[in-house]
Amino acid sequence: MGEDTIRGRWALVTGASSGLGADFARELGRRGANLILVARRQDRLERLAAEIEAKHRVETDVIASDLSVPDARDALLRALSDGGRAIDILIKNAGLGVHGNFLDNSWEEEREVIEVDIIALVHLTKLLLPEMVSRGFGRILQLASTAAYQPVPSYAVYGAAKAFVASFGEALNRELKGTGVTCTVVSPGVTDTEFQAVARHEYTSFMHRVQMKSPQVARIAIRAMLKRRHSVVPGPHNALGAWAARLAPRTVSTAVAGFLMQGQRGPKL
Ligand SMILES: NC(=O)c1ccc[n+]([C@@H]2O[C@H](COP(=O)([O-])OP(=O)(O)OC[C@H]3O[C@@H](n4cnc5c(N)ncnc54)[C@H](OP(=O)(O)O)[C@@H]3O)[C@@H](O)[C@H]2O)c1
Repeated sequence: MGEDTIRGRWALVTGASSGLGADFARELGRRGANLILVARRQDRLERLAAEIEAKHRVETDVIASDLSVPDARDALLRALSDGGRAIDILIKNAGLGVHGNFLDNSWEEEREVIEVDIIALVHLTKLLLPEMVSRGFGRILQLASTAAYQPVPSYAVYGAAKAFVASFGEALNRELKGTGVTCTVVSPGVTDTEFQAVARHEYTSFMHRVQMKSPQVARIAIRAMLKRRHSVVPGPHNALGAWAARLAPRTVSTAVAGFLMQGQRGPKL
């Protein structure tokens, strides 16, 4: 299947102030898409927008928004419709995890994961999908994780949230058949971003060994989205792990994931 061209179309990237989100924006800019960059840290978004505009001669806009707040998501939609821009590409990337036993983590930490990783992701889809369908074109990419493929002790809520993202995205893609809109689920393994620092998970030697670079993961994911694939697991080692987790008895895959994701709690950012 050939890749769509997206030159001149508008793409919205959530969580563009860091890591994968910034690299999704760079990759889309390289392909000629105009960009709306969303996250809480406005200064970083502005620096990235300036970098991409200078390099690729595309238009950019920056909207600072805390996606964990329902009103902020409605305000984001209002800002988009005031700007009069049709969003053809939606990258639902903003997300976080909290490492540690559920018993030890606070409700506020776990609730933020659920609010950003699940509720904001579904809400944004609800807000932006109808227009894509009525225009007959849309490309959606949403961030799951290899954590979606089995329960993950020490990331219990995060793993469950990413299983939700994967299931929702693949079902949605099927429901959208024939509308011109597609939804691709990307499930990265450990990737070199700020994720682990935010999750307060000190890097282990296993994580160092298997981690992928964020620009490479972003390139693979955008290519899969533009080929209208329903899902992709970047990196052969991650794809193999996801496949093995599907085949293994659930108790075994859960125990292995818990073993691989153990580690020290890092300092609070
Ligand atoms: N890195 C990995 O190992 C890995 C593996 C699998 C999946 N993922 C997924 O990849 C996605 C991107 O994460 P990353 O690895 O690039 O981590 P990251 O470097 O920590 O980036 C996370 C992004 O999400 C944004 N964000 C967090 N909370 C937000 C909120 N309340 N409102 C708006 N934006 C918010 C952050 O921006 P602000 O702080 O400026 O708001 C930041 O831009 C996440 O969904 C993550 O679960 C990561």
